[in-house]
Amino acid sequence: MSRDKNKIVYVCSECGYKSTKWFGRCPGCGAWDSAVRVEEGVQSGTPSLIEFKPSTSDISIPQRMTTVMKETDRVLGGGVVSGSVILISGGPGIGKSTLAIEYASALTTYGNVYYVSGEESVPQTLLRVKRLGVENNRLFLSSEVNVDDVLSSVSSKGKPVAIVFDSIQTLYTSGMSALAGSVPQMRECTMKLIDYAKANDVAIFMIGHVTKEGNIAGPMVLEHMVDGVLYLEGEPRSGRRILRSVKNRFGPTDEIAVYDMETNGMIEIPDPSKIFADVDSEDPGSALSVIVEGSRPLMVNVQVLATPSYRNGSIRITRGFENTKLMIMAAIVSSHLGISLENKDIYLNILGGLRTSDTGIDLAVAVAIFSAVRKLRFPPKIAFIGEIGLDGKVRNVPQMQMRISEAKRMGIARVIVSNGYRSDETEGVKTLKEAILKSFGGRNVA
Ligand SMILES: Nc1ncnc2c1ncn2[C@@H]1O[C@H](COP(=O)(O)OP(=O)(O)OP(=O)(O)O)[C@@H](O)[C@H]1O
Ligand SMILES: [Mg+2]
Repeated sequence: MSRDKNKIVYVCSECGYKSTKWFGRCPGCGAWDSAVRVEEGVQSGTPSLIEFKPSTSDISIPQRMTTVMKETDRVLGGGVVSGSVILISGGPGIGKSTLAIEYASALTTYGNVYYVSGEESVPQTLLRVKRLGVENNRLFLSSEVNVDDVLSSVSSKGKPVAIVFDSIQTLYTSGMSALAGSVPQMRECTMKLIDYAKANDVAIFMIGHVTKEGNIAGPMVLEHMVDGVLYLEGEPRSGRRILRSVKNRFGPTDEIAVYDMETNGMIEIPDPSKIFADVDSEDPGSALSVIVEGSRPLMVNVQVLATPSYRNGSIRITRGFENTKLMIMAAIVSSHLGISLENKDIYLNILGGLRTSDTGIDLAVAVAIFSAVRKLRFPPKIAFIGEIGLDGKVRNVPQMQMRISEAKRMGIARVIVSNGYRSDETEGVKTLKEAILKSFGGRNVA
């Protein structure tokens, strides 16, 4: 269908709400003075016939390219797919540009790669390139922010392999009055990049900032549009970084890669179980479990500290674990093990800066709370895998065998699981109370 007339619409710069009439306050999100006037092409005329391809047709399948970083390739489902658009997001200064430059340099094995940074000048980027030791005569730098100019300049130099845009918030496309970083601009630029990537079989990485709330600054719609979304997270003051795939059209999601950010770049940690778990710890409040992130099992250490409350209402604080989930676990421990947590502040931390919502860790959390409150040391080399219901019963979680094998690989002697799982390698329990009895003996349980 041809586009031959232009229509004026008003788009909210906050949420992307669209209307043919101007609005003072956005009916979509309630923001004031956010209406931006945008000219849109209107389709008219007779529809043109499109060609459908039979599924048996001999079309070339997009190739996967390696980033040379084994862990990153795994997060991407086996490497970067040519023609795909990947959004890399994360908080300020977390290492997005560092990671993206390393990918860009690695992909030069396949041809020319362009790194377009509206965030930093070319000399600044060059300084970083040199520090990371990735200078390369197929890696080209620019600080242009007009997306149309970038795409036509890149095309004039022959077919590139990949283009990195740092960041999507700095890009703009001409013919649109909205400011760079506004929702309509980001959406339009992303559309152009997707069209370009698919039409030219070029991999595109876009870097996106996140807001204080942890969302990508801009509309969720960006996440829906792209093929993959990678989040880089970690404690700003520590060098540990975790890259997580939250969306992937070409591989599993929730896959993680762990790095240490050093002066000369991101150093991969090939066996993260070794850094997330202190297998020899028998300290009160420190329990071991195995979670599954993506396709990989990880041994983790839950640490709980219980201290007397000195104010009205006790505190529950978590790191790497949902806060309300700790409240629920504390309630389960309190009612099914008969211990009072009323005057106790409880702090929970997942060692190594990891975040998880895997329910297989429940049993370890509950046992750790009990052990912290009673100050009971754990028997050596014991791990807990299972979900706990409000009824205090322990349940199986998916991929039990994979988790148990990981525990055994890490040298764990006893694995406590739900008795619904039958195996010679584990000890089955029906309830949380039974798990406590098995771990600490009868006289320690009320
Ligand atoms: N000269 C240097 N030596 C060692 N580390 C450095 C040096 N310069 C910067 N860094 C590290 O790099 C980190 C910034 O990484 P990077 O610029 O890749 O992050 P970013 O996520 O792209 O940040 P932004 O949100 O500002 O774009 C800093 O936190 C700092 O620790
Ligand atoms: Mg940056």
